[in-house]
Amino acid sequence: MSTDLSFQRCIHPDCGKTYAVSEVLTACTACDNLLDIEYDWSRLPVPGSLREFEAKWANRRNPLDYSGVWRFRNLLPWAPESSIVTIGEGQTILQQSNAVGKYVGSNAGQLFLQYEGLNPSGSFKDNGMTAAATHARMVGAKMAACASTGNTSASLAIYASTAQLFRVVVFVGSGKIAYGKLSQALDYDAKTLQILGDFDDALERVREVSGERGIYLCNSVNPFRLEGQKTIMYRVLEALAWEPPDWIVVPGGNLGNSSAFGKAFAELKALGLITKIPRLAVINAAGANTLYRLYHQQGLRWNDGRTDDAKIDGFFTTMDAEKRRASTLASAIEINRPVNLKKCLRALETCNGVVREVSDQDILDAKAQVGAGGFGCEPASAASVAGAKLLRAEGVIAPSDRVVCILTGHQLKDPDATVAYHSGNRELFDEKLRKQGVTSAPYANSPTVVENNLQKIIEALGV
Ligand code: F0G
Repeated sequence: MSTDLSFQRCIHPDCGKTYAVSEVLTACTACDNLLDIEYDWSRLPVPGSLREFEAKWANRRNPLDYSGVWRFRNLLPWAPESSIVTIGEGQTILQQSNAVGKYVGSNAGQLFLQYEGLNPSGSFKDNGMTAAATHARMVGAKMAACASTGNTSASLAIYASTAQLFRVVVFVGSGKIAYGKLSQALDYDAKTLQILGDFDDALERVREVSGERGIYLCNSVNPFRLEGQKTIMYRVLEALAWEPPDWIVVPGGNLGNSSAFGKAFAELKALGLITKIPRLAVINAAGANTLYRLYHQQGLRWNDGRTDDAKIDGFFTTMDAEKRRASTLASAIEINRPVNLKKCLRALETCNGVVREVSDQDILDAKAQVGAGGFGCEPASAASVAGAKLLRAEGVIAPSDRVVCILTGHQLKDPDATVAYHSGNRELFDEKLRKQGVTSAPYANSPTVVENNLQKIIEALGV
């Protein structure tokens, strides 16, 4: 057992091996399970109330208090302040949206959107990457790497370009990475390898290469990243005057966010800082639904940490035998081997959670409604809204429940999908959307083509 104030610990209860925070690991060396960052709270300055964090707002010329991640550093106290790498991440907002609420079926005033696309690189990843970059700095890493469906790579690349502390290589699948995201990695000068395979392949390769070459790995198997992502929940609570909502709804890909959210709430409850834990809904795209299948068809559960590994192994063996690959227009969550599966199962247990899958049609329709009723988001993010609508229709979410949907990425990340949906251009629609099972665009806002003539323009305006 570690005597440090913070340490890494294997999540398996029969192992529980601990490691110093100075060690660079992505799995337990004894049993290969995931690692948590843990704290000896009895020897740390725990805030008496969450309201204490509001005082940081008065001190915003200090970059650590300005950061929406590090102003909560007392709740993730593993990094010396002098090592922290911050670029002002986490200036994100919680917006109430009655327009989207109506679409979901919620009572007025009860539906909220958490816009994580407002981060510096345009997605929630910056919450975790500031922590990974900080740890990379602490351990003196010279090179960092990740595999990505696009947002992780954009985030790692922006931290590397601004901090100038280490070089970066990003592995992306050669298939469906959205151009907004690819353009970021290129523009931030990251060495970019397009692997001839999909995300699941790219992650397997980057793990091998990092292990072999001692490159610092920044995917969400890195437990420090998830510590940063806990702060999304702190900001949601803060925006709701520290009153936990009834539901948090989040898209599920590699399942890092859901895992981090569960850990955040479990810790806050254990520290006596909240009394109620919101319910968690994790939403898979139907074309990338490993969690959904394992949870519902195979009854896989956390089971006090003794997860049925044979069930998981058997699932992946069959998946490979059937050559099933993930396939969804929500390219950010086009993932069939979610690395944080077990931590997500734990979060579902902590938060009395549910798992659902939604079709690409549902995702794009929800995305159009988010755009029409607010700032917009990329396709994967809209899985949260589509999932909330489904759970409302099932009666699992009540109309009076207070629901927070996490919008994980910015609208401009993937303009192709948006234009194909709205444009009314059949060819474009068929090419991009129909082959993924999207057959209609009920919320399309198609542009009107009009002659370059004043009279015709006035006629077209119809006013
Ligand atoms: N939403 C967006 C916009 C994402 O980019 C991702 C993950 C997710 C949701 C899923 O989050 O993995 O925590 O369940 N994108 C990763 C990437 C895989 O490489 O950018 P998760």
